[in-house]
Amino acid sequence: MTDLSHLLQQNREWAARMEAERPGFFRMLRSQQRPRYLWIGCSDSRVPANEIIGLPPGEVFVHRNVANLVVHSDLNAISTIEFATRVLGVTDIIVCGHYGCGGIKAALEPVQDRIVDHWLRHVRDIAKFYREELEEIEDPALRVRRLCELNVATQVVHVQESPVTVELREKGQDIRVHGWIYDVADGLLRDITSLVDKVRAREPV
Ligand code: CO
Repeated sequence: MTDLSHLLQQNREWAARMEAERPGFFRMLRSQQRPRYLWIGCSDSRVPANEIIGLPPGEVFVHRNVANLVVHSDLNAISTIEFATRVLGVTDIIVCGHYGCGGIKAALEPVQDRIVDHWLRHVRDIAKFYREELEEIEDPALRVRRLCELNVATQVVHVQESPVTVELREKGQDIRVHGWIYDVADGLLRDITSLVDKVRAREPV
């Protein structure tokens, strides 16, 4: 069995550091969580939600899966959105993709016989819908980057169209859904919400 004692040791050091910097921090978190944001991101180890937006525990409710998808029939994602908005009162939802996403890249390659290829069919559908735009991009790396962006914009629309957020909006609650993309090469986030309007309207991108 792998010895993970160094991780437990690092945890003790982290907890002590947090408590030293912010006395009473864990006691405060024990009684409640009141996150202000729901983060829907990729499982990729290089894109840790809290770290890249500089927020401590308690501030971000997080859902991550391969290629940051929001599939209408995915009970995991839908339950997370419902809990975050209805129970925790989150009003800002961030869908964050990232350049260099292995899931997005795989969706542009021939299908393989893996479980994950079933999941990535959702990305293939987006690539199929924007086939002409994507084929115009000659550089394969830039094509993957563009599909990363189109995927984020599409997932933002999925969140906006999900019955949970539609109902809350009809009740007058303002649910804002943001589309961001993270570049693992420079550590910076970019807001691509402007692309969402075009994707929602099925306009050329
Ligand atoms: Co990824």
